[in-house]
Amino acid sequence: MKISVINGSPKKGKSTSELMIKYISSQVGEGNDVSIYGINKGAVKYVNLKDIKNSDVLLFAFPLYVDSIPSHLLQILIELEKQKPFSKEIMVYCIINNGFFEGEQNHIAIKQMKLWCDATGLKWGQAIGVGAGEMMSFIADIPLGHGPNKNIGIAIKRLSNNLMNKKSGEDIFVSPNWPRFLWKIQASFFFWHPRARKNGLKIRHLKRKQI
Ligand SMILES: Cc1cc2nc3c(=O)[nH]c(=O)nc-3n(C[C@H](O)[C@H](O)[C@H](O)COP(=O)(O)O)c2cc1C
Repeated sequence: MKISVINGSPKKGKSTSELMIKYISSQVGEGNDVSIYGINKGAVKYVNLKDIKNSDVLLFAFPLYVDSIPSHLLQILIELEKQKPFSKEIMVYCIINNGFFEGEQNHIAIKQMKLWCDATGLKWGQAIGVGAGEMMSFIADIPLGHGPNKNIGIAIKRLSNNLMNKKSGEDIFVSPNWPRFLWKIQASFFFWHPRARKNGLKIRHLKRKQI
């Protein structure tokens, strides 16, 4: 089976989308022809549309931007839509990750992807909405299905099983198995605050409300 994976994170370095692709590839890679395309390498130019047209499965892994699909990914979706009609049935699966704790934040982007599938003539498979995306790399050494990675492990397994059988499934929303209040403290002090300082911002700038 030919599986085309599109990493929709614009980050040049490591991203949560990349980690999600690593997780899914470990379960569906064997015996399948998996090609991974990275949007961070220059958008449409690097995505072989012909190759994608011949796929049995398309898997999109991307971050949530403003409750929606990031605009750089839209460019690829538009180009793919121009390729219709497709001569074979292509299933679409998504793993969308977001910064807030709750994976449910991704429900609008999932709906957008479903509408795009309808418009493009592709068959919807399933999506996972992953919350606390920036935490995922900190717990990447913990095996899937265990500790804070318990729910994400279960979700990845379900999606992988459906993907390998080209079946559709219920969308799944997950957050790490971790207390929300702890995540909030850790994310502020060990991630967002240092990152703000690195970019020349003070903590009070993060709390400023736009009107
Ligand atoms: C421009 C921008 C908009 C974002 N909008 C949201 C949002 O609406 N909701 C949310 O929970 N996270 C939002 N985030 C956070 C990202 O979804 C989050 O950091 C994600 O884990 C990044 O994934 P990646 O490492 O795969 O790029 C936003 C990030 C950026 C840069």
